[in-house]
Amino acid sequence: MFYQVYPPSFCLADPDGRLGRLAPPHTSPGLARLAGGSGDLEGVRRRLAYLAWLGVDAIWLCPFYKSPMADFGYDVSDHCDVDPLFGTLEDFDRLVDDAHRLGIRVVLDLVPNHTSVEHPWFADARSSRDSAHRSWYVWRDPDPDEPARPPNNWVRAFGEGPAWTFDQATQQWYLHLFLPEQPDLDWANPEVEEAMLDVMRFWLERGADGFRIDVTQGLGKDPALPDAPAEQAGIPWSEQNDDERTHPILRRVRRFLDSFANEPVSVGEVFLLRTETVARYYGDGDELHLAFNFPPMFCGFEASCFRARVEEVERFLTPRNAWPTWVLSSHDRPRHRTRYGGSERRARAAAVVLLAMRGTPFLCWGEELGQEDAEVPPEAMLDPGGRDGCRALMAWDSGDLHGWALPEGHKPLFPFPPEAAVRNVETEAGDPGSVLSLYRELIALRRSDEVLRLGHSRLLEAPPDLLAVERFAEDGRRILVGVNFAPSELAWPVGGATVLVSSAGEGHLCGPAEGYGGRLGPEEAVVLRVEPTAVA
Ligand code: GLC
Repeated sequence: MFYQVYPPSFCLADPDGRLGRLAPPHTSPGLARLAGGSGDLEGVRRRLAYLAWLGVDAIWLCPFYKSPMADFGYDVSDHCDVDPLFGTLEDFDRLVDDAHRLGIRVVLDLVPNHTSVEHPWFADARSSRDSAHRSWYVWRDPDPDEPARPPNNWVRAFGEGPAWTFDQATQQWYLHLFLPEQPDLDWANPEVEEAMLDVMRFWLERGADGFRIDVTQGLGKDPALPDAPAEQAGIPWSEQNDDERTHPILRRVRRFLDSFANEPVSVGEVFLLRTETVARYYGDGDELHLAFNFPPMFCGFEASCFRARVEEVERFLTPRNAWPTWVLSSHDRPRHRTRYGGSERRARAAAVVLLAMRGTPFLCWGEELGQEDAEVPPEAMLDPGGRDGCRALMAWDSGDLHGWALPEGHKPLFPFPPEAAVRNVETEAGDPGSVLSLYRELIALRRSDEVLRLGHSRLLEAPPDLLAVERFAEDGRRILVGVNFAPSELAWPVGGATVLVSSAGEGHLCGPAEGYGGRLGPEEAVVLRVEPTAVA
């Protein structure tokens, strides 16, 4: 079970140390403004005990590297150092040591598709056409007949502009699937791969346990850079690029990771919205260990959509022995409770899907509190992708600053979520009916129950409003997961079953750990233990 930590929004522990580190000559634009308000690595370290209490196996730590923060850390200007906004390398070392002591692994966010324009590689690359790093990025000549027309029709993510910027000094276009401040590296150049493996080695030798690989689908590109098909021309190319050249790269990365004794894991962000396509990024067990499968994030609260997504996972991943992942919320998309119209009941039912399907769940900080997005007016948005709302801060207690060590006169970078006064760790930990208690219960059940953790999965025939999945072991042990997506009660008769967990908590029709009565409450999800089937 992974827990995503987004450093700016998780916990601020050491503003004084940081304000000192941010003193001039730190030149990153806007950083002085943000100085007091971002979370830091020391904050993460101090909250590890909470994560251990919750039952987290590993954290995915979003970027904390040196960055001018055009894309809040996904524009890296030094891959091998900590941005003063978040602390120091020593803070990182302490965080890893403590996490390991608590049995929590630390998986870092590797951003290999692009760098910041402020990275020394790009500074050199744009200094002249003959520079040593010129061919580390993707450059194209302007068309002599139409010099103002970009080399192809690719659109960048964030804003609606082209994925190209013209460099006046050297009279060529450079490619950026994201902001102009994030030029794409050219992975066809073996020096780029070599440099990125060095980055990985640097962090693995410092104790990292693997990498979440940002924009994995972007690495291999067709050198002809052909236009996007006309009907998809308005969709960012980062969501379409799916080139065979990525697979040998991933095989080499996998061999590299496998050469380390601590068995570092690779989790690919494969932002291609078809599970069939995502499945190919596992290779024959020789590419990614895990790949994010985002299509379920795009389901409304509807049984038919979730059934289709579960069915695709079974159809495309299981036959190739690819271990699935489940994710409902992240720093990039509205949180699931917000997507489901703000309903806590629906968010709770979805948590059962997240934690009871076959595969590795990824929780997003604050999701376990039932957190909703903050409402941020457009003029107050900091993020060029408009994602401030889902980046709302973790609330640790019910005090005015919710456990954030904000110095006088400094506002936090992102807002607190709605209801932080009651939806915070301190308050919810003491309430057996809270969303936090439900997550903790589900996580503890996964830990103790091998069938839930490792068992096979089979989608069952069910009435239209029900998602019904059987988890089973070869020896006949069985668990059933049922999710009623309807706002009314639903009959689901199952013989000889006991309720292990209900999303309705104490409101379950029969009460947890009791005999199951054959009915699900409105938008209720249950995990049931059923009599083992006889094994032939
Ligand atoms: C990934 C990250 C996102 C970032 C983008 C560019 O999609 O999750 O936050 O903006 O890559 O690096």
